[in-house]
Amino acid sequence: MEFFADTAVVEDIRELNRYGLLDGVTTNPSLIAKSGGDFLQTVAEIASIVSGPISAEVAATDHADMLAEAKVLAAIASNIVVKVPLTLDGLRACRDLRAEGIAVNVTLCFSVNQALLAAKAGATYISPFIGRLDDINLDGITLIHDIRALYDRQGFTTKILAASIRNPNHVSDAALAGADVATMPADVIRALVKHPLTDKGLAAFIADWEKTGQQIIK
Ligand code: E4P
Repeated sequence: MEFFADTAVVEDIRELNRYGLLDGVTTNPSLIAKSGGDFLQTVAEIASIVSGPISAEVAATDHADMLAEAKVLAAIASNIVVKVPLTLDGLRACRDLRAEGIAVNVTLCFSVNQALLAAKAGATYISPFIGRLDDINLDGITLIHDIRALYDRQGFTTKILAASIRNPNHVSDAALAGADVATMPADVIRALVKHPLTDKGLAAFIADWEKTGQQIIK
C-alpha cells in the first residue's frame, strides 16, 4: 500500500519525505485554507518536493469550469492529479480529463455505487472517506472491503485511495481491506512507528551497551 500525506503544510511534507515515507500527497480546499498558503504556489512547491502523485482539487462544481480549472492545475507539474467531486458533472469532467491523459482522483466517495461510477468514468483514483463514515456510525473500512471486491470482480483498474483517515488503526485496517493507497495526516504517519515496547527495549539496549564501555566507531 502506498503512503500519501493528507496535508498542505509544506514543512510536514519535507520532513516526512526525508524519511522516505511519502509516495504522494493529497490536498483539498479545507487543507489549503488551514495551511494559509496560496493554492497554486503551495501545490507547485509540494510537487517540487515529492515526485509521486500530488492531488489538487478543483473549486468549480459545473463541468465546463471544472475542466478549465483542471487545465490550470495539471499545467503546474507533470505529477499533478486533478481531484473532482463525485457528482454527475465531476464524473463527466473525469471522463474528459482522462481522455486527455490527465490523472484524476474522484473524491467524496461514500458508497459502492459511487465507486462503481467513478471506475466507469475512468478515474485514476477513487477516494472513499473512512473517517467521515465512522463519524456518523457507519463503517468506513467495510466500504473499502466492498470496493476492493467490486473492482477485482469487475476488472476495474481504478486505485482505491483510502481517505479521511483519523488514526493508526484506520491505516492497518485499510491495508488489510485491500486499499492501494492510504492518505494520512502527518501526525497519523508519525504515530505508526510508535510502540511502548520499542521505546522500552531500546532504552534497555542503550543502558546495557553503555555498561560494556565499548564503541563501534573507534
Ligand atoms: C483527502 O483526499 C481527503 O480530502 C481527506 O482525507 C478528508 O479528510 P477529513 O475527512 O479528515 O477532512
